[in-house]
Amino acid sequence: MLPSLVMLLTLIYCTSGENPAMQVILTNKGLQYGKHVTAGWIQETLEHATLPDISGKINFAFLVNIHYTFSGVTIRKCDFPEPSVEFYQDTSGFKMSITGLNVAFTGGWEAHCWFIHRGGSFDMALFGVDLVSIVQLGRDTDGHLSLTSVNCTAETGNVDLHFYGERSWVLRHLESRIKDRIKDQLPTMICSALEEVIANLENYLKDMKVNFPLDEDVTLDLPLTGLPLVEMTNLQLGLKGEIYSIKSPKEPPFQAQPFTVPQQPGYMLSIGLSDFTANSASFSYFSSDLLQAFINDSMIPPFFPVRLNTTSMGPFIPQLPEMFPDLMMLLQIYATDIPMFSFHSGAVMLSMQGAVKAFAIQHTRLAPLFKLHVNSNFSGKAWVADGRLKGSVTMQNFTLSLRASEIGPFKIDGLKNLALALMQIVVLPQLNDKLATGFALPRTLHAQLVNSVLTVEEGFVAFSSDAELMTSDTIFS
Ligand SMILES: *[C@@H]1O[C@H](CO)[C@@H](O)[C@H](O)[C@H]1NC(C)=O
Ligand SMILES: *[C@@H]1O[C@H](CO)[C@@H](O)[C@H](O)[C@H]1NC(C)=O
Ligand SMILES: *[C@@H]1O[C@H](CO)[C@@H](O)[C@H](O)[C@H]1NC(C)=O
Ligand SMILES: *[C@@H]1O[C@H](CO)[C@@H](O)[C@H](O)[C@H]1NC(C)=O
Ligand SMILES: *[C@@H]1O[C@H](CO)[C@@H](O)[C@H](O)[C@H]1NC(C)=O
Repeated sequence: MLPSLVMLLTLIYCTSGENPAMQVILTNKGLQYGKHVTAGWIQETLEHATLPDISGKINFAFLVNIHYTFSGVTIRKCDFPEPSVEFYQDTSGFKMSITGLNVAFTGGWEAHCWFIHRGGSFDMALFGVDLVSIVQLGRDTDGHLSLTSVNCTAETGNVDLHFYGERSWVLRHLESRIKDRIKDQLPTMICSALEEVIANLENYLKDMKVNFPLDEDVTLDLPLTGLPLVEMTNLQLGLKGEIYSIKSPKEPPFQAQPFTVPQQPGYMLSIGLSDFTANSASFSYFSSDLLQAFINDSMIPPFFPVRLNTTSMGPFIPQLPEMFPDLMMLLQIYATDIPMFSFHSGAVMLSMQGAVKAFAIQHTRLAPLFKLHVNSNFSGKAWVADGRLKGSVTMQNFTLSLRASEIGPFKIDGLKNLALALMQIVVLPQLNDKLATGFALPRTLHAQLVNSVLTVEEGFVAFSSDAELMTSDTIFS
């Protein structure tokens, strides 16, 4: 049942004691869906499975040991009832059980004692196999989810065994004892096969990345911050959810605050993402000097009436065209502090502080003109529609102040209105166009999110979704 759960958890994809900035909740609905998909996969896999050889020896009349081997054991038919799986608080993991499994095998047998060698084929059927497995979830030192088998019990009901081929009377005599012996061996064999599957999954988890580069500058760190929490109806994982600069990773001057993701049992999984994650990204870009841009006239759309040259700026700064006649201008815009996001019920707020340096482009040099300080607040909304994350942004407040001037004092009001117009007519409409198109929700080759909803809450965004796993057996190969 577990591979699908792992798939569900990797969809979304440190140190102990800190608050997780990302929380993932797998609900019972998600668990049952994962189980259902995996059961189909197990059934498919079993139908092509070759089992390990079964061998043993049996003593006849205290005189001789007869060695037997069953090899090339393949499953001919498997009647695989839907298993049950539940969250299991006692071991902080899952409990899985299958009752009434019937399997028919076929293969070859061989028996020898002294120099006598016999062989042939066989048919075997197991009826009413019951299997209970309990696994425990944990966290390894690197913050991976870990999985260990804590208990496995298997019981077989009836075993039916038919030998074909030349048999001595001794062998014929021993058939029922061999059958009993195999019946005794089977539970251990079944459990060790299951434990091997769990160990493979554990290896897969151990190799899973806990760090995902988002672009060439920043990377998202997603190790578990603590032990998985298993409750009656869900599994909760706390992940670090911090974004670091790749070149110079360092901790921001703020911390993730605790938050509680609302329970949404109607969805397979819920994810809560703290505003800390967004702010750690802000901090990383800011402290790597990446929040700056140069703006020249060719970046201002042709329909905008005012051009970025000293002549066109004359009405706003009268002395400019006199001191620097007919020159193109260049603006350097940069953040002067970490842009901070805060998530509130229904809205995302962003407050930005920055500076604008204006230059006149002369033949061989940039002549500095003036420096402005800009303080602006934006308010945004975010939602999921058509499987895409969408949003919209409006500007709340905008203040502009003159900090330095190489061209003497001038009134700032005209410039402020010009900047506001540029924001409202050019920048925000372009941004909102992009946000209206939205961004595709993350998906993997094998899984995608469906029926997703997103709400902004105090301090975090809550995302709930169902998932769709591709049922082909390529999922786990
Ligand atoms: C495994 O489960 C069985 C049946 O519930 C119990 O008797 C046994 O003690 C358990 N073993 C371990 C190692 O927990
Ligand atoms: C404006 O900047 C862009 C991008 O930096 C550059 O490609 C372009 O040549 C510049 N235009 C002028 C007129 O300097
Ligand atoms: C500056 O812009 C005005 C339009 O406002 C234009 O007529 C003029 O040619 C521009 N000057 C330069 C140097 O591009
Ligand atoms: C923007 O918001 C922050 C905090 O929300 C506030 O301190 C600041 O004064 C606001 N800026 C403006 C220009 O209103
Ligand atoms: C911020 O903008 C809102 C609405 O746009 C306005 O009501 C409020 O007075 C502004 N605050 C400041 C400090 O400018």
